[in-house]
Amino acid sequence: MQVQTRQRGFMLQTTLLSRTAQLPALSASITELTSICVNENWRIEDACAVIDADPLLLDTLLREANNGALSTSSRVKTSRDVVGRVGASQIMSVAIHVGLERLFCDLREYGEGALTTIRHCYRTAIAAETIKAASRVRLPHSFAATALLHDVGEIILSHHLDETEGPSLQEIRQSHLGEAEAERSELDLDHCEVSALMCRQWRLPQAIIQGVQHHHSPWILDNPLAYGVSLADQVATCTETPKHSVANDFLLVGRCLGELGFSRAEMAILIDDTNRRIAERTETR
Ligand SMILES: [Fe+2]
Ligand SMILES: [Fe+2]
Repeated sequence: MQVQTRQRGFMLQTTLLSRTAQLPALSASITELTSICVNENWRIEDACAVIDADPLLLDTLLREANNGALSTSSRVKTSRDVVGRVGASQIMSVAIHVGLERLFCDLREYGEGALTTIRHCYRTAIAAETIKAASRVRLPHSFAATALLHDVGEIILSHHLDETEGPSLQEIRQSHLGEAEAERSELDLDHCEVSALMCRQWRLPQAIIQGVQHHHSPWILDNPLAYGVSLADQVATCTETPKHSVANDFLLVGRCLGELGFSRAEMAILIDDTNRRIAERTETR
């Protein structure tokens, strides 16, 4: 790699480190709830104590459980009802969703691409729910939350590049390489690292930070969470761009499917099921 690229990369890393350090923290209740729910041996009482101390969070969870995608016939009224009904995975995912909405209340500040990125993150979390429901391999509670956060670094990275001289994130990605590779060759860092920096800044659990950091290189972690997030990312992309071909990532998609017990033919079913869930979610909002 050229010395110039390395120098630019070093300066960019320093700048992004300070920009992410200036981001507001996720609220304490969301950080605490996440650290409780990420534990496979979590206790409902611990989660309820945190939710009850954050009336806005409780209100959102009740709304989701009664009117949103998590609703069933009977109405829920207390934190215990919600937690008992939806479980650790959904609680964590909704809590982080609330946290992101509080943090990025005006996404327009971050440029045009920010809305596209956050919508893609929401779709990826829904794809994760589809994959978790169908996979023959057990996926951890943190799966949907990690999927939800996987590309948040793009918001900061893209905004910073727009404000400085040089190519935009979109222009960098137009090279023949995969997007993360293209970023690394031009910037000496990629959006996965920036996403992980943000999750570290928000004091999220290590499993989430690692899953986010390696969503384009899941073989490095070689665990179901990493393969799951990478697959959810591909499924979400296919729902956004119906003509999107997975040909560029043919080997990676095949590996992720295989690691989670799916055949290649099941990719189309995962895409259809995710589209159905997205449509249901849109109808209930
Ligand atoms: Fe990504
Ligand atoms: Fe993505």
